[in-house]
Amino acid sequence: MRLSLRFILPLIFVLGLIAYLVMPLVDSLTLQWFRRDLDIRSQLISNTIQDSLTDLIKTNSKAKIISLFDHAIQDERLYALGFCDLNHHLKFKTQTFPVELECPKGAENSNGINHLTPGSLHVASFAVVSEGTTLGHLILLHDMSFIERRSADTKRYIWYLFLILGIVVSFLTVVIAQLSWRGWISGMRSLLKGEGLLRPTPSTTSRELIPLEKDLRGLIQNLENDRRSRDESQINWTPQTLKKILHEDLSGDEVLIVSNREPYIHTRRNQKIEIQVPASGVVTALEPIMRACSGTWIAHGGGSADREVVDKNDRIQVPPGNPSYSIRRVWLSKEEEQGYYYGFANEGIWPLCHIAHTRPTFRTADWKQYVAVNEKFAEAVFKEVKTDDPVILIQDYHFALLPRLIRKRIPAATIVSFWHIPWPNPEAFGICPWREEILDGLFGSSILGFHTRFHCNNFIDTVDRFLEARIDRETSTISYGGQLTAVEHYPISIEWPPRWLAEQKSIQDCRDEIRKQNQISPTAFVGVGVDRLDYTKGILERFLAIEMFLEKHPEWIGKFNFIQIAAPTRSSIERYQQFESEVRALTRKINSRFGKNGYEPICLKIEHHEPDQVYEYYRGADFCAVTSLHDGMNLVAKEFVASRDDERGVLILSQFTGAARELPEALLVNPYNIDQCADALERALTMSHKEQRDRMRSMRGLVQEFNIYRWAGRMLMDAARMRQRNRLLGRKDNLISLKGLRSR
Ligand code: G6P
Repeated sequence: MRLSLRFILPLIFVLGLIAYLVMPLVDSLTLQWFRRDLDIRSQLISNTIQDSLTDLIKTNSKAKIISLFDHAIQDERLYALGFCDLNHHLKFKTQTFPVELECPKGAENSNGINHLTPGSLHVASFAVVSEGTTLGHLILLHDMSFIERRSADTKRYIWYLFLILGIVVSFLTVVIAQLSWRGWISGMRSLLKGEGLLRPTPSTTSRELIPLEKDLRGLIQNLENDRRSRDESQINWTPQTLKKILHEDLSGDEVLIVSNREPYIHTRRNQKIEIQVPASGVVTALEPIMRACSGTWIAHGGGSADREVVDKNDRIQVPPGNPSYSIRRVWLSKEEEQGYYYGFANEGIWPLCHIAHTRPTFRTADWKQYVAVNEKFAEAVFKEVKTDDPVILIQDYHFALLPRLIRKRIPAATIVSFWHIPWPNPEAFGICPWREEILDGLFGSSILGFHTRFHCNNFIDTVDRFLEARIDRETSTISYGGQLTAVEHYPISIEWPPRWLAEQKSIQDCRDEIRKQNQISPTAFVGVGVDRLDYTKGILERFLAIEMFLEKHPEWIGKFNFIQIAAPTRSSIERYQQFESEVRALTRKINSRFGKNGYEPICLKIEHHEPDQVYEYYRGADFCAVTSLHDGMNLVAKEFVASRDDERGVLILSQFTGAARELPEALLVNPYNIDQCADALERALTMSHKEQRDRMRSMRGLVQEFNIYRWAGRMLMDAARMRQRNRLLGRKDNLISLKGLRSR
């Protein structure tokens, strides 16, 4: 429509110009030219025949005069000749001379040409003079119809010429308009993408945009500065801070969380419904956010009594007893759970992303279920949202495709995806047969978060290897398929102070309690490990280190116990069953090797423990061992630190966890180095109270400051800023660069 207007309007304009301006001008000009031409011709003919004519007039030779005249009008344009005497009588004339014309008035102005143009005749009269006496006037009539013919021809050619010209002009107008429109569009796009704002290049930023760009840059800079100063000046990150951000920065916008694991599981046991908080770092981290923003948490309803307690919309208000947000449960069939959760997510992506020497298994049938379940969750999100631009926080590797699926249905949503597990290097990730699809799915996100910069870099390298995307490493943004995604690191943490601490017994009581419960000598030194029974957690390596420690330091036999809490997990996967057998077998081996008189160095507790019980173990232990072979963050390390308000206890921490980057005061170990780990055990057991306090104090300071509210707050502030910028630029999707989104 716009295109045809651009074409037709110039054409109409050009044609109007021809009709009302050019044609009358051409008419009058050609007439003038031809008249002048005829004047000259008339003069010439008159001069030529003057002498003969005067002679013949004097002798009154009528026949000869007529013959002279007839001879003269042989010229095709000279139409008629006549001679008028001084009395205005037409004395001689050719037969063609129009009777009605007679002798034209004004013929007495002897030596001029009289333009008398009745009809299509050009009339010229010249005085015929002989020896100074005027004898009369020679009247020459030229046929002007040829002028009309020629003028019509000329007009036709001019019409053609101008028509062609008009078409060319219209065409050029369309082309130029298109080009300059594209220029504007691409200029605007670059501006929106932030290229123009942040790094103007002559090719992408049109001159017209520069003033606008300057203003926007200023505004955005202000926003950045504001965020940075708020972030830096904010030492105490609390639920109130988070609420303030949600209220002020997001103006109470709708917030939804999507994760596979739900924060509360209802299970039926012995005719009773029990509520369980799952052993999941993701749940631990997100629960406080939901409490603060009263949003909706969409998750798989996996508990045996989950269906019994929901309302007709599959929702339930939680936390039990003090409801502040709602869980919307999504039901999965056995086949869906098998293919999507056990198969693709946990036999495929989980081992793919953790370098723990368990090979990933990829099956097409699992992939299909993974796609289908992601679509099912997208549908649930779509049904659940009340506004057209909600903030949606998508959690983890179960939902790699969800960001794209949501983006398609809710284009203005701000989608923040967080990948809680490590992202491997491109070679390792390249094993996945659906690597492009996974990357494409994630690029529906406005922000994609990892725990560490290292994982962000691995992700960016992977994209570089497998997709045609524009990567800006400086700003850590990736433009893919017209969509810009910021790739940022937000180290996850725990709430401070942890809710579970409030009800805890004193340290001494906890020490006594865990020893008593596990038939351990009240004076024994105790180490704890708290993990899901997962092969990535380095439990076998930890036990091997204990074995070596007791081997190297037999004086500790009988005086040292290690309690391993291992929450059963993903138990229908063969590798996990096999791993459980390995752990049990190694425990038996070590216990039988060093056990005597009822003493067993390792106490293996493969069962679910509620958080308050876990905190009791943290508080009652002398050290906590976190020896993951590979871990995105590991919140057990932070929980242990948070639980020790006595500033005692030692943390042994694998260097392959995200947490190791934040807690260098821990005893950092390479879990594959059994000797080193054994030495770390010895060091932990013999560390002075002062050193324990110094290390613990420093770690507690960090966990307190970089707590879960800060993790969520920074992410939400970035999301808010992105929305603010988009609104500023008149757009609600996220084609905006996030330069300086984080300034770490
Ligand atoms: C890891 C994952 C979480 C998951 C948790 C427990 O921390 O990052 O997404 O919830 O393990 O695993 P599960 O399979 O029991 O949910």
